[in-house]
Amino acid sequence: MSAGASRGHGIEPAPPRAADIGEQEAALGRAEAVARRALGLDVAPDAGALESEAFLLRLRRWWPDLWDGLRTPWAGSRARDRELLALVATLATRWAARPADLRALDRDRLYHPDWFQDPSMIGYVFYVDRFAGTLRGVEDHLDYLGELGVRYVHLMPILKPREGDNDGGYAVADYRAVNPRFGTVEDLEHLATSFRARGISTCIDLVLNHTAAEHPWAQAAAAGDPRYSAYYLTYPDRQLPDRYERTLPEVFPEWAPGNFTQLPDGRWVWTTFNTWQWDLNWANPRVFSEMIDIVLEHANPGVDVFRLDAVAFMWKRMGTNCQNQPEVHDLLRALRACARIAAPAVIFKAEAIVGPADLAPYLGEGRHAGRECDLAYHNSLMVQYWSSLATRDTRLMTRVMDAFPRKPSTTAWASYIRCHDDIGWAITEEDAEAVGWSGPGHRAFLSEYYAGSFPGSFAVGEVFQFNPASGDSRINGTFASLAGLERGLADGDADEVDRALARMQLGNALILAWDGIPLLYMGDEIGLLNDHSYLDDPRIALDNRWIHRPRMRWDAAERRHDPATVEGRLFEGLTRLIAIRRDLRQLHAATPLEVIDVGDPCLFAFVRSHPDGALMAVFNLTDRTTTLDGAALELGGLETAIDVLDEGQRVGPGGTIPMPPYTARWLVRA
Ligand code: GLC
Ligand code: GLC
Repeated sequence: MSAGASRGHGIEPAPPRAADIGEQEAALGRAEAVARRALGLDVAPDAGALESEAFLLRLRRWWPDLWDGLRTPWAGSRARDRELLALVATLATRWAARPADLRALDRDRLYHPDWFQDPSMIGYVFYVDRFAGTLRGVEDHLDYLGELGVRYVHLMPILKPREGDNDGGYAVADYRAVNPRFGTVEDLEHLATSFRARGISTCIDLVLNHTAAEHPWAQAAAAGDPRYSAYYLTYPDRQLPDRYERTLPEVFPEWAPGNFTQLPDGRWVWTTFNTWQWDLNWANPRVFSEMIDIVLEHANPGVDVFRLDAVAFMWKRMGTNCQNQPEVHDLLRALRACARIAAPAVIFKAEAIVGPADLAPYLGEGRHAGRECDLAYHNSLMVQYWSSLATRDTRLMTRVMDAFPRKPSTTAWASYIRCHDDIGWAITEEDAEAVGWSGPGHRAFLSEYYAGSFPGSFAVGEVFQFNPASGDSRINGTFASLAGLERGLADGDADEVDRALARMQLGNALILAWDGIPLLYMGDEIGLLNDHSYLDDPRIALDNRWIHRPRMRWDAAERRHDPATVEGRLFEGLTRLIAIRRDLRQLHAATPLEVIDVGDPCLFAFVRSHPDGALMAVFNLTDRTTTLDGAALELGGLETAIDVLDEGQRVGPGGTIPMPPYTARWLVRA
């Protein structure tokens, strides 16, 4: 890395520390009062005219993205020009209805476009019913979220799903209503307002790829209405479906094999996931306009982050796996342009659980750079964490992460260790072979390891969707159970419990140092174990992803301040990391991240270069004790460094720093 690497990315030097902020704020208050008087703001200006002018400025500013984004996907539509104008009318109408406090947030974020990149951003993810029963119930736990330092909450699917099995809410029957079991649209607005008052963003899912078969559009299509049939991908016979299926993988081979479902009238409809999840036809401009209207309908009461579900699948092309097609990126760019115009406080997060080469483009690559999604799940980081722990070898991780394309500086990864889904081993043959393993062999090993069947495995988990045709399978289990806590507790093995907790702290330190928003999955902060109670509910009993979607154990959470308990050790460890992260400007997501190979297969390391001085993060992902040679600091542009996670640890060029099993060090200039 060159000495100049920290220059030229436009990052501001460190702001004053907390102690000086009070005085600075007070002076700002006085300065604002003077400015108000000088501007004559006691005499009300024509606010309406100014707001409208601002809308037109944004339309102009983001028009090229909208235009360019829709050009190819809409190329086949005759109604294109008319639809584009109708879309602009929707944007303007929704903006006109946007409440004053959210317009203020819009303005604020236009001046602080890096708001979501701040090191203070910590995400927390939960199912409303499993965390607190209802949306109103969530408000009883605001202090808990505050204690954790949460600034972003992802409410798992809350829009009205179909009855019966609904894929955890990912089969939406009405995008404009909230699941009545959780509450109402008003409750959502109330919660979003409470969150906002505490500096917390509200993220909800927007399922873009498919609706439930029970959605009124799908019902009309099933009844033969041509307008709504054109919202989906339907075929009169098996001819095209058969041709597509030659190259289509299956997402749920065990219970939803194939990618098409036959309708009572004989037609076939595209259903990538379950038979009751119908894929939308994004070549139809109306689908785009409907979705944007839905986004704005939820943005105006205060939702400010949309998780775009299953985006990789939005565009189909014969002869391909129908994922990650170029048109997906065009559409995402156009979606973002619409939000910037009509609700600029809103950002988008891509859920594309795909291989490394296909993932980076969701943050925008080439002509889309920085113009696509603001956030995207970094599933490769997650996969590599688990892979390194199991193999006790970081070579694959170092290789894959090092080769990963750099993200645009205006975006952030959503970095996570566990989420509500299974872990799919997105590791290519080429990468596995580069370290001497076979792709299928390594993937099969990982599933065996985390299912707990591999000799010596510390994990307790379950295989998901074994596909005999491809030999592939995925894994389910909570962070704690996969990391060894369940086994350690069951065996009464205090050392194994210690190791499991260390693995979890290590994982948290990894995602907190990465260039993005760390997403904590509910219950992991207190080590909730696999939960088999889903088997009692016939609607979901087939889907063992529910083992890692437990109900919040508030009784266990009570122990979070007791250092003698597992809950206390985990919670204190995590909140300490969060507090330290908050003050480290190097962990702002605009700060470049460079993976470095320190030449030790136990260690994974990267550097965040910053005008304040670099931060070098080093992790021992194995159960072996090793040392970091002080000479490696030079690779990160550091000479003598101190570990901010363990201030007793210092190292200079001639020395070494101990790296016991599963330690994380965040090294900065001493
Ligand atoms: C996403 C969700 C997953 C769901 C799928 C289909 O991948 O995370 O839970 O099954 O989309 O909607
Ligand atoms: C989506 C995700 C995939 C996940 C699946 C269901 O396809 O991309 O990773 O396994 O949904 O869980």
